[in-house]
Amino acid sequence: MSDSSAPALPPVSIRPATPDDLDPILAIEGRVHLAPWTKANFEGEWMKPYSTTWVVTDDETDAEVFGYATFWAMDDSVEILNIAVDLPHRGLGIAKLLLQQIIREALKKGAKRLILDVRKSNLPAAGLYQRAGFVITQYRKAFYSNGEDAYHMALELEGALLDF
Ligand SMILES: CC(C)(COP(=O)(O)OP(=O)(O)OC[C@H]1O[C@@H](n2cnc3c(N)ncnc32)[C@H](O)[C@@H]1OP(=O)(O)O)[C@@H](O)C(=O)NCCC(=O)NCCS
Repeated sequence: MSDSSAPALPPVSIRPATPDDLDPILAIEGRVHLAPWTKANFEGEWMKPYSTTWVVTDDETDAEVFGYATFWAMDDSVEILNIAVDLPHRGLGIAKLLLQQIIREALKKGAKRLILDVRKSNLPAAGLYQRAGFVITQYRKAFYSNGEDAYHMALELEGALLDF
């Protein structure tokens, strides 16, 4: 949050997810997504060499998972497949921090752009991506299993800001 009276971002760590993180991740996933990923989905991601899942945890004990993201590094694009922050920790800048870290990683890998799909109704996520500089590049009709449309969004990394 940019407002100086807003709650401060707690000290957090961002690190690769391990199998021990799966239960807290699945609990958050079930609370925050309309079509949550299953255990098999996450385990499937961990088998793919191009897929990375990071968790955000409390810096002090590393025991509480606040959020996570899964992204693919393919050719000259990094695609964000999943990003979520648990309800009590929203609005503190955790997703922003995670996204900034993904941008740094994408730059390190030599990617030219970040891409993702977002539900048309998902205003918090669209707000996050627009703030980071993503633009809508395609409208995908009935993209999701419930028939909802998606915006395909992209962030060109050349000149992208890390402190959005
Ligand atoms: C989208 C989501 C990850 C944002 O997490 P968060 O940690 O609360 O976001 P941040 O506090 O880092 O906010 C960063 C920016 O995102 C935007 N944003 C966040 N929440 C918003 C909201 N409710 N409405 C509009 N914009 C919002 C704002 O621009 C914000 O910056 P500001 O607070 O300085 O104005 C979170 O709402 C979530 O987990 N949603 C459910 C899962 C999901 O939809 N994932 C995206 C799938 S595409």
